[in-house]
Amino acid sequence: MKLFGSRQPKAKISVATAPAGEPLIKMRDIVKVFKTDAGDFTALKGISIDFYESEFISVIGKSGSGKSTLVNMITGIDRPTSGTVAIGDAQIDQLSESEMARWRGLNLGIVFQFYQLLPMLSLIENVILPMQLAEQYTPAERKDRAMQLLSLVGLEDYAHKMPANVSGGQQQSAAIARAIANDPPIIVADEPTGNLDSRSAAMVFSLFDELVQQGKTIIMVTHDRHLAAKARRTVRIHDGLVVDDGASTDVVDLSDAKPSAGAAEAATLADAQQEEVTEALKHAT
Ligand SMILES: Nc1ncnc2c1ncn2[C@@H]1O[C@H](COP(=O)(O)OP(=O)(O)OP(=O)(O)O)[C@@H](O)[C@H]1O
Ligand SMILES: [Mg+2]
Repeated sequence: MKLFGSRQPKAKISVATAPAGEPLIKMRDIVKVFKTDAGDFTALKGISIDFYESEFISVIGKSGSGKSTLVNMITGIDRPTSGTVAIGDAQIDQLSESEMARWRGLNLGIVFQFYQLLPMLSLIENVILPMQLAEQYTPAERKDRAMQLLSLVGLEDYAHKMPANVSGGQQQSAAIARAIANDPPIIVADEPTGNLDSRSAAMVFSLFDELVQQGKTIIMVTHDRHLAAKARRTVRIHDGLVVDDGASTDVVDLSDAKPSAGAAEAATLADAQQEEVTEALKHAT
């Protein structure tokens, strides 16, 4: 009797790291052409950019400039028409769908504007799921870890609620807990505070800031000028090209980003909450 199936052993997937001084993420000559009824539309026109370990990068630019398209090349949600994306030793644009899914499970935490929690799972089940999928931790550890992560984002009393029964800010906080469930080195967030009140936005931002201090690399698309200014580096996209890239304090003044309601307040609150979050994270990791 065969005890094990004849499935091919899975190729080893490793956690992305970069030698000192080398970029963690290398994008080269990225072109993305969308086929539309009206003909081809070139959303990215040849972008080459590097991101380093422990960087906190905000990506800004007008609506339709190509921000989401760009970050989707990093997450593998979409593929470039031409050009290459290397993260650590993985060639992202060459991975098959299943390799990509496994690679992503270990390496990336993704946070979207509309949370995208699974509606039929409770908050804690949503946080446990990526650990199950990536076969990380034992079942008991997964539960403990999920609870710790939910506490970290202030949701310990809501762990067993369904997403529909908590606020938008709470859903986004749970989505962040889910994104860091497997302790990924890279977090990509597309307008993570776009639907949040200033207090929740500040909470999200403090959490990101602290994760960066722990060595994570965060790439965050945002329309909030004030929040963008709090990232160390800002990349501005215009019409499918990078037109500014530098210290946030220099770039943001030139930006098209508009402060959303409460963004300034969120930026101040983020500073105030920093200490609280730092303390909480120490216990969760
Ligand atoms: N699947 C698609 N098919 C056709 N065109 C697309 C597709 N996805 C994006 N585009 C177009 O590519 C351009 C860039 O889109 P993208 O979503 O990257 O913009 P964005 O900077 O993220 O905008 P926003 O701030 O509104 O989210 C836009 O003109 C958009 O209409
Ligand atoms: Mg977008």
